[in-house]
Amino acid sequence: MSGSGTNLQALLDACASPDFGAEVVAVGADRDAIQGLTRASDAGIETFVRKVKDFGSREEWDAALAESVAAYEPDLVVSAGFMKLVGETFLDRFGGKTLNTHPALLPSFPGMHGARDALDYGVKVTGATLFIVDAGVDTGMIVDQVSVPVEDDDTEETLHERIKVVERSMLVESVGRIAREGYTVDGRRVRFGRA
Ligand code: GAR
Repeated sequence: MSGSGTNLQALLDACASPDFGAEVVAVGADRDAIQGLTRASDAGIETFVRKVKDFGSREEWDAALAESVAAYEPDLVVSAGFMKLVGETFLDRFGGKTLNTHPALLPSFPGMHGARDALDYGVKVTGATLFIVDAGVDTGMIVDQVSVPVEDDDTEETLHERIKVVERSMLVESVGRIAREGYTVDGRRVRFGRA
């Protein structure tokens, strides 16, 4: 993760209930001294940091990140507010079980500024998307989406904050369902439940 970690906090809070069905085994970040790492430590979760600049190339960073994640043998990797693209090595190991959240209704407004781009375009409805990470930028198969109306007086900040409220609930609900029910993929269509 890179941001303030509110999506992570929502997951940590949900995982505190035994009925939820999932537990957070570790939290990784691409920089230190961020709120998400503090949130993880406060919850007693192990953390690690892999910074791009500490490696000779982006590929080496990607391999180190994959290695660090693999050490915890996760069933699911959740990239909540992680603003870096993972590479081939990472996807070779965790492709198909890495989720990411995005603050727009994909395939509209991919990239770093989903809320701002939707506002600037003038759409009246936007939202959040949970998807399975692939090699593209926010192009993966969609697990869930929620919509949010754009208000006349919205700024990027007010809109993004409103998106984040529903984004957190969507993330928690989907991760819980995946943990309890599994999921199947048919073409681009993702469904909860085992085949
Ligand atoms: C979330 O809205 C997430 O969708 C977005 O960053 C925010 C992180 O919030 N990610 C992207 O825009 C990725 N392209 P958080 O740190 O409070 O969870």
